Amino acid sequence: MKETILSGMRPTGKLHIGHYVGAISNWVKLQDTYRCFFMVADLHALTTEYKNSNEIKNFSYELVRDLLACGIDPKKATIFCQSDVPEHSELHLIFSMLVPLGWLYSCPTYKEQLRELSSKDIKTYGFLGYPVLQAADILLYKSSKVPVGKDQLPHIELTREIARKFNMLYGNYFPEPEALLTESPYLPGIDGRKMSKSYNNCIFLSDETTEIKLKVNKMFTDPKKIHKNDPGDVTNCVVFAFHKVFNPKYKEIEQLCKAGKLGCVEDKESLYKILEQILAPIRDKRKNVTIEQIKETLLQGKNNASEVAKKTIAEVKHLVGLVSK
Ligand code: TRP
Repeated sequence: MKETILSGMRPTGKLHIGHYVGAISNWVKLQDTYRCFFMVADLHALTTEYKNSNEIKNFSYELVRDLLACGIDPKKATIFCQSDVPEHSELHLIFSMLVPLGWLYSCPTYKEQLRELSSKDIKTYGFLGYPVLQAADILLYKSSKVPVGKDQLPHIELTREIARKFNMLYGNYFPEPEALLTESPYLPGIDGRKMSKSYNNCIFLSDETTEIKLKVNKMFTDPKKIHKNDPGDVTNCVVFAFHKVFNPKYKEIEQLCKAGKLGCVEDKESLYKILEQILAPIRDKRKNVTIEQIKETLLQGKNNASEVAKKTIAEVKHLVGLVSK
């Protein structure tokens, strides 16, 4: 029996190339080795987007489109939507009875998000419980590993604490899942800041050839390198940061640039070609995925996920004493 993995992504907009290198390309590899559940975390999206929730469904479909285009295979992995499997909400509610408020108030992501999303009115019950819902996602499938980036580690730790507390109260039932840390390479936005929709500096998986070319041309380089033959400093050069992630020969680029033997124009040209090679097949597949295919994938995913989720909830209710022994 393969080990079980669950990971999720919130449907909050188009995916960019940072999502691809930071998460999805890793998911594609994992689907061959593990029993994988990849979840569209629409209820998690609702915790911060409840005021403009009309977009969530469409973003969910587009997320599935991206996953399929990147090579997640619904025959190997279960792709499903969180709100399609009500057992997530049910387990979340049961867990919420035993989670002390202190655990949630002191969660570093909570404090950070309150600060960063200060315009969003997220001092809500639901948002405070974000990690409880995530624990329910993970434990509902008794996942042993959770592929995530560093930023999610506090949530995995909370999940383990919730599992321990449940086990202590009602008998040893849940495994304590571990994070499967994704080596997320550093990939800035085209202006050198963090790649983010709100900064308008992303390269999207759906970008057309001309857009990619334009964006690569706009990328920030070493401001002191003015002439082709000036020696460059690659430290803060966005073009180089991309080479480092996508070009196996990045060391050569570094040497040539430092020696003043590589101009930025030529450097951008070669990067553009590499990116186009990676993104063109994804872009083409994106266009070929039909809405019927997306809905069919989610329906199949819902059925697969529900089978496991229903069994867990029945057992949990039994353990807790909500059904007669
Ligand atoms: N909180 C995760 C993020 O923002 C998304 C997520 C929801 C998730 N449920 C999950 C990740 C369960 C891993 C496991 O990236």
